[in-house]
Amino acid sequence: MKNKILVTGGTGYIGSHIVVELQNSGFAVVIADNLCNSKKEIVIQIEKITGVKPDFELVDLKDSGATLQLFEKHKDLSGVIHFAAYKAVGESMEFPLIYYHNNLFSLINTLQAMLKHNINNFVFSSSCTVYGDPDSLPVDEKAVVKPPISPYGNTKQISEEIISDTINTSSLQSISLRYFNPVGAHSSGLIGELPLGVPNNLVPFITQTAIGKRDVLKVFGNDYPTPDGTCIRDYIHVEDLAKAHVAAVERMIGQKQKENCEIFNLGTGAGNSVLEVIKTFEKTSGVKLRYQFADRRPGDIPEVWADTSLANNVLGWKARKNLDDMMRSAWIWEQNLAKGKIF
Ligand code: NAD
Ligand code: UFG
Repeated sequence: MKNKILVTGGTGYIGSHIVVELQNSGFAVVIADNLCNSKKEIVIQIEKITGVKPDFELVDLKDSGATLQLFEKHKDLSGVIHFAAYKAVGESMEFPLIYYHNNLFSLINTLQAMLKHNINNFVFSSSCTVYGDPDSLPVDEKAVVKPPISPYGNTKQISEEIISDTINTSSLQSISLRYFNPVGAHSSGLIGELPLGVPNNLVPFITQTAIGKRDVLKVFGNDYPTPDGTCIRDYIHVEDLAKAHVAAVERMIGQKQKENCEIFNLGTGAGNSVLEVIKTFEKTSGVKLRYQFADRRPGDIPEVWADTSLANNVLGWKARKNLDDMMRSAWIWEQNLAKGKIF
């Protein structure tokens, strides 16, 4: 019998890549998503890649009754990976209550249903945003959690606390994965990021500018205290991220956790500047990108990259793909979307 994993937010950008990796690693998957930021057709795309159609449940996890019903229907779960959340930093500044409501209620309802059904393995999507502007680099998991800059960031901090408190009073065990900057698309070119409206993030803005959907990329600030003046981030390929989730699930199911609440950074361990990302995109795509320097974006920190030793040594996972792979796959995905090959 295959171990069955519930993936909340599984038709989303990161979730869909994890579903593929789970299925390719022999897990059965149930996706629960309300499609507020993804499309049902992603289930078909996943089937094209893996040959297996994952179960799909249209559920709004803000609704506690609907969440309980989901768990009544799927009593045989070995674990849950929780991606369902809103994720746009700027939007969260404008609509904080909508962010707190969705991200926290979805988490609480999921945990309550897990406790009710004695499902104890929980993997959570956290973010390097919890480190704020770190005191030293690379940043490791022991670094102080800084006051959040945005309500979105605060939902990640509060979520980590809710999980920790729940663990202290139940048999739940969790692994929180703090992502740095996930980018790129699946090597099949069949799934990738689908930003709604104007993208906030660098890589989808680059590919949309290159394809002609946007006029010009604004580089937010070229006067930072970095070698070329632009911000530095630790970009990680979404396929590498997917492999780390499978390693986390296998660790939990195999009862290998040393503590009931573990936290791992997921990055490559190296930083790249915005200009380096642009140059790598131009090199791998052969497209000259239209970009101009603009004012700094409020809330951006100059630089951050991960110390990944813990994930490397304890999870036995290491990011393998480089910035060329990230840009190449993101560009293939954008072109496939433009050619109408996906939807
Ligand atoms: P995404 O928006 O593509 O995926 C999230 C999915 O959750 C979507 O399919 C959406 O429809 C679903 N969802 C949202 N609220 C829901 C609800 N109430 N009930 C059911 N489904 C709901 O985002 P993503 O980039 O794949 O991010 C996944 C997770 O990773 C999020 O928790 C996000 O905060 C976290 N994360 C993302 C990044 C990043 O840069 N993409 C970085 C750090 C952490
Ligand atoms: N940038 C530009 N122009 C753009 C978009 C971004 O110059 O049009 C720059 C930003 O200023 C930043 C870098 O590109 O220096 C990366 O920006 P992103 O918006 O792609 O990513 P962030 O590092 O700001 O944030 C990401 C996720 C957040 C998450 C955070 C930490 O979007 O959800 O990483 O995990 F909280």
